[in-house]
Amino acid sequence: MAVKSLEELQQLISKKIDGFCEKNGDGRIFQPVNYILQLGGKRIRPALSLMSANLFTDELDNAVYPAVAFEIFHNFTLMHDDIMDHAPLRRGKPTVHEKWDVNTAILSGDAMMIQAYQLLIKTDSTKLIPLMQLFNTTALEVCIGQQMDMDFEQKDLVSVSEYEEMIRLKTSVLLAASMKAGALIGGASQESQDNIYKFGIHLGLAFQLLDDYLDTFGEEAQTGKRRGGDILADKKTLLMIRAFEKAGPQEMDVLNRFIGNKEAQAEEKLSAILDVYQKLEVANDLKEKVLHHHDTALQSLDLISVDADRKQALHSIADMLLGRKG
Ligand code: IPE
Ligand code: IPE
Ligand code: MG
Ligand code: MG
Ligand code: MG
Repeated sequence: MAVKSLEELQQLISKKIDGFCEKNGDGRIFQPVNYILQLGGKRIRPALSLMSANLFTDELDNAVYPAVAFEIFHNFTLMHDDIMDHAPLRRGKPTVHEKWDVNTAILSGDAMMIQAYQLLIKTDSTKLIPLMQLFNTTALEVCIGQQMDMDFEQKDLVSVSEYEEMIRLKTSVLLAASMKAGALIGGASQESQDNIYKFGIHLGLAFQLLDDYLDTFGEEAQTGKRRGGDILADKKTLLMIRAFEKAGPQEMDVLNRFIGNKEAQAEEKLSAILDVYQKLEVANDLKEKVLHHHDTALQSLDLISVDADRKQALHSIADMLLGRKG
């Protein structure tokens, strides 16, 4: 049996991404592409994809290009997401639209999306059509989720279930599809592909909930993103939704004063909202949900009938993501 460790998989992925950047060269359109890719990031989508393939096969060669395609696509969404979110920092460095300009970030992002397809079509032709269908459905869902995320900035009343649907679309489906793609290429049955997809959905929900937590309570040095960006952009995170639900008259007054107020001074808004979050203990509500989705994810993994040893890497990465600080 040859199940690869997270470190081995990450080395494999890094090598491919380095080669990809080298081939890009330093033409103007590719400089931002190489810049964002070389800032690294956790690269969990390709790792999850290869781990999912590795559940069913020892032969990972066919799974590597699609795994990297998911990572390139993910980085494209980040480049555009940072424009939409007015984010100054990504992975501890200036975002592409800050370092270059918005038009550059739009165009280099577009190029990355095409490059993701170029990598995908290197897949074995017997798997190509279901893989493309999965990828296209997923990519469109991410766009729909991102639209909902923006729409919610303008709304005060967003329900927890609307929020969960939004994060399922903008984040979970890409993790889940990366995993399902790996399973498909690894030769998994339809039932196993469905279970791995469900694992990815719940892992992704926990992942985005934690991303929201870290945006507000994390350390910039670890997240590499500007702390409080979600609050400043009036994002309807679970923290904000629960704050609106739990607020008494005093807290409601603060929320109404700052949320949607483009004139508010940033530091003042951040400290006032943080204060409300602390009083209402909304971080506890979030953490409860993270644990729930983490457990639900692991239940789907249990249902997949392969040796427990083969599942070890997925168990460890799920646990690692639960304790992440960045
Ligand atoms: C950030 O994704 C965007 C979300 C979907 C939350 P990651 O946290 O995976 O970012 P990197 O790739 O590790 O930088
Ligand atoms: C990002 O969500 C989801 C996508 C990029 C599709 P966020 O906007 O929360 O991601 P970060 O926090 O900027 O990484
Ligand atoms: Mg963002
Ligand atoms: Mg966003
Ligand atoms: Mg975020």
